[in-house]
Amino acid sequence: MSRILVTGGAGYIGSHMCWELVGRGHEVLVIDDLSTGHEQALPPGTTLLRGQVGAPEIAAALAHEHARSPLAGAMHFAAKARVDESVRFPDLYFEHNTQQTLRLAQQLRELKVPWFMLSSTAAVYGNTSGELIREDHPVAPASPYGESKLRAELGLRDWAASGGERVAILRYFNVAGADPEMRTGQSTPQATHLIKLAAQTVVAFERGQASGASSSVSPTMQIHGTDYPTHDGTCLRDYVHVSDIAGAHLAVMESLMNSTTSSRDARVFNVGYGQPYSVREVLACMQDVSGVKFPIVEGPRREGDVVRVACDSRRLQAETGWAPRFADLKLICQTALAWERRLAARTL
Ligand SMILES: NC(=O)c1ccc[n+]([C@@H]2O[C@H](COP(=O)([O-])OP(=O)(O)OC[C@H]3O[C@@H](n4cnc5c(N)ncnc54)[C@H](O)[C@@H]3O)[C@@H](O)[C@H]2O)c1
Repeated sequence: MSRILVTGGAGYIGSHMCWELVGRGHEVLVIDDLSTGHEQALPPGTTLLRGQVGAPEIAAALAHEHARSPLAGAMHFAAKARVDESVRFPDLYFEHNTQQTLRLAQQLRELKVPWFMLSSTAAVYGNTSGELIREDHPVAPASPYGESKLRAELGLRDWAASGGERVAILRYFNVAGADPEMRTGQSTPQATHLIKLAAQTVVAFERGQASGASSSVSPTMQIHGTDYPTHDGTCLRDYVHVSDIAGAHLAVMESLMNSTTSSRDARVFNVGYGQPYSVREVLACMQDVSGVKFPIVEGPRREGDVVRVACDSRRLQAETGWAPRFADLKLICQTALAWERRLAARTL
């Protein structure tokens, strides 16, 4: 059993990670400012340091916790993660996602914590070309969000080269779904992800029907662009179940812990399935699993959307033995919807 630091542990992906770690007998220390996360998402027994990553008072609390019970390593999920917000407030993103990451890494070096994992994103690739994206695909972020993550990656690589820590960077594709055991899920109402929005639409539709609201105000889903060069005219994305993201971290963690040499470089891993789905296919799947034929409105393209994003994760599979367990769009939609219904029931 090890003690692991999970920043952003009260958020969507971080909370799934905490439950996975605790389920395997590990102890979890969380840093989270609860800006988008929820304390209730944490498993029982988790210690929460409430505040911003890298802040002096959090650094002091971290040192205190480490002295009490040493940390084996760190998983850094905490970040601002909205592309639209990053366009309006780029400096905020460079401060939170880049500078705070590097400050945290330095604090962990002072405590001699031997390994560090960073949550990164397929957004670092920007406009991609080719069938499946490998880690050596050129990077060209199309938003300050992607750029802030890329700068964190580059800073960490330099940092790793100057010390002996083992560092891994995981670039996730489109994360979706919820814990199949319904212990946690995506609880941020302002989330912008397609599957979350579709699940919210179903629930709003069901609530409207339950209250007898007029169908003229029924909730709808928007498709942004139907003239893309794809089989049905809509954009393609690689949706990966959030529990498989947590599983990928476990696999990488084991390989970092079992490695006896210091790497002096940060290893980058893509996490996705390599099976992209179109917007129309996702919406049809959500209608199918919910039984709700919510209206779909077709609109013009949205600025900045990339036609096709699909992941090559062979490096992750070959080097860590990671094998996805939930690579099924239907299961992703079912768990996302079950979680959304649960959230709605709480607020009735
Ligand atoms: N959701 C996705 O599809 C996706 C895809 C690629 C990468 N990622 C990355 O995964 C990570 C987690 O994303 P998520 O979807 O779970 O987001 P989230 O907003 O649900 O979780 C982020 C958590 O970090 C906390 N937080 C934010 N800034 C903080 C700070 N400065 N100090 C301390 N706590 C802070 C929030 O309160 C929240 O609990 C992020 O780094 C994100 O960039 C997410």
